[in-house]
Amino acid sequence: MQGTIDLAGDSHLRAARDQAQSIPLADFDVGNPELFKTDTFWPYFDRLRREEPVHYCKESMFGPYWSVTKYNDIMDIETNHAVFSSAASLGGITIRDVAPDLRRESFIAMDQPRHSAQRKTVAPMFTPTHLDQLATNIRKRSAECLDNLPVNEVFDWVDQVSIELTTQMLAVLFDFPWEERRKLTRWSDVATTIPGPGGLVATEEERQAELLECATYFARLWKERINQPPKSDLLSMMAHGEATRDMDPKNFLGNLILLIVGGNDTTRNTLSGSVYALNKNPDQYRKLRDNPDLIDSFVPEVIRWQTPLAHMRRTALEDIEFRGRQIRKGDKVVMWYVSGNRDEDVIDRPYEFIIDRARPRTHLSFGFGIHRCVGIRLAELQLKIIWEEILKRYDNIEVVGEPKRVYSSFVKGYETLPVRIAA
Ligand code: HEM
Repeated sequence: MQGTIDLAGDSHLRAARDQAQSIPLADFDVGNPELFKTDTFWPYFDRLRREEPVHYCKESMFGPYWSVTKYNDIMDIETNHAVFSSAASLGGITIRDVAPDLRRESFIAMDQPRHSAQRKTVAPMFTPTHLDQLATNIRKRSAECLDNLPVNEVFDWVDQVSIELTTQMLAVLFDFPWEERRKLTRWSDVATTIPGPGGLVATEEERQAELLECATYFARLWKERINQPPKSDLLSMMAHGEATRDMDPKNFLGNLILLIVGGNDTTRNTLSGSVYALNKNPDQYRKLRDNPDLIDSFVPEVIRWQTPLAHMRRTALEDIEFRGRQIRKGDKVVMWYVSGNRDEDVIDRPYEFIIDRARPRTHLSFGFGIHRCVGIRLAELQLKIIWEEILKRYDNIEVVGEPKRVYSSFVKGYETLPVRIAA
């Protein structure tokens, strides 16, 4: 079936499809994190793409917002940055507005010309030459992590592999004290969590207290780096960069969190998603095992399939008509990558996981336009090396239970994924 989720065997999805078909479009609230926690958002987006691709939700836990659900429409919003702003002062880049007193600027939540100037400061980290230098380190760490995995017993892939390897990578990028690297994981999780009972943090105050701890810790490292000659870590680059060395403390913390979350959650959830996707599609797993050269197209395919950031948001700077709908100045416009990546008008058999697609890089997972992810090459390199090392060692990473998913309509990922490696 093209462009509609295949429901065979998934009863929770069947119920969601009935629900998505029966309720009026006016009542749709696709940003509800519960739909993502239960993985039941798919049929809602299927219907929106078909019947009302640019949709207005009048009321939600995040206030009113527009949803843009088709691939090419998302590209149009992304490239019209003169009208659709990313500015933190207007609420930022996620469906959830950041409260005015908590707003921190980072270059992802900034418009031109300051955005480009700050982005340029960290860009040298991601050049092919620098990535070649990092590759040896990535391979060595991946091999060590994989060699130490338990065999013939169930363990959590998210914690032991995905979090561990992406956290290590981040510690390398920041030249962060190695033994304390899990602090980075914690700060990344806290930065994106929605506070609530039973959650990672119970209240917004707790969340802010932990982020302040992050800022204080990094401020100390910053002082060390600024008094040393420039080096090739991200902190040193910002401490010595012309556009960033005089940042105010809020902009400093904003950029830190951007780089921590950008480099952590996304690759982590794609790595967990890659094991899950191959288990759901054993024929593709076999294909990959038989021909490891397919890793080059498997990696972008899994990034599309997973779409680890479900959306990015913009705010309209003026009234504008878009696809026949009247968007008003100040309206929140959410670009649903997760839906664009299943748009059958652009992607052939979009619900299928096909590791040797003809054009695997046709996807929106990295965004588009001036804010397109700066870490693309690094993300792909990490996933490629890790999978090269996995295939050398283990025939089958078997998923033995359903994953526990994150309660968020922004970070689309996994809290746990139980697996077993057979001897
Ligand atoms: C921006 C996705 C890995 C750093 C973005 C955006 C997306 C994204 C959707 C916003 C694009 C837009 O608004 O048009 C991803 C995915 C990744 C990944 C899916 C992995 C699979 C990384 C890594 C880093 C990174 C490894 C760095 C260590 C950034 C930064 C930005 C960004 C700094 C802001 C760019 C700007 O505003 O100019 N990423 N990312 N990302 N990403 Fe990534």
